[in-house]
Amino acid sequence: MTEDLDKLMEVMSAAFDPNFGEAWTRRQVEDALLFGHTYYNLVAADGSWPDLETPAVGFTLSRLGFGEEELLLLGVSPEYRHKGLARNLLMKLSDSANKRGAMRLLLEMRKGNSAEKLYRAFGFYQIGERPEYYRFKNGERVNALTFAYDIKI
Ligand SMILES: CC(C)(COP(=O)(O)OP(=O)(O)OC[C@H]1O[C@@H](n2cnc3c(N)ncnc32)[C@H](O)[C@@H]1OP(=O)(O)O)[C@@H](O)C(=O)NCCC(=O)NCCS
Repeated sequence: MTEDLDKLMEVMSAAFDPNFGEAWTRRQVEDALLFGHTYYNLVAADGSWPDLETPAVGFTLSRLGFGEEELLLLGVSPEYRHKGLARNLLMKLSDSANKRGAMRLLLEMRKGNSAEKLYRAFGFYQIGERPEYYRFKNGERVNALTFAYDIKI
């Protein structure tokens, strides 16, 4: 568990642009996992779950609600992008969330994040927009887009 958290936090630091303040601290991740109904997934460069000596290059963090699981964070280290690893993580999340009883995945992202293309290609569709939901370090306010994905079984 501690080793997994180390691996997850390594990707967290590499993947998220500090200008947007979207990365979570280790404490936030630990608290979420302790709170329960929160799950993580790790992926190594070859797409498998990393063994003890292998670093993770991607992760998801998600929280199960009533029949729905929310993708809280998805990150892939920059040098391992555009190889389908995020898609691989979304497929695994969809499978495992469904085994936990979810019929739908939900997520929220800042408008303009290039991840939108990945989400739409995967099958997510927009269900809402929250005006000026995010506030960045430079004071800029950006809308949040909410998306859903119906899990196919
Ligand atoms: C968003 C993010 C997770 C995508 O990770 P990724 O592993 O690069 O995603 P994928 O490879 O699965 O798909 C992304 C792109 O790679 C392309 N791709 C997939 N397999 C490929 C391959 N074998 N060769 C080349 N390109 C490929 C996909 O078509 C897609 O291309 P496009 O976006 O240009 O259309 C990553 O960019 C990231 O960590 N961003 C910062 C954090 C963030 O914003 N997270 C989301 C909000 S929480």
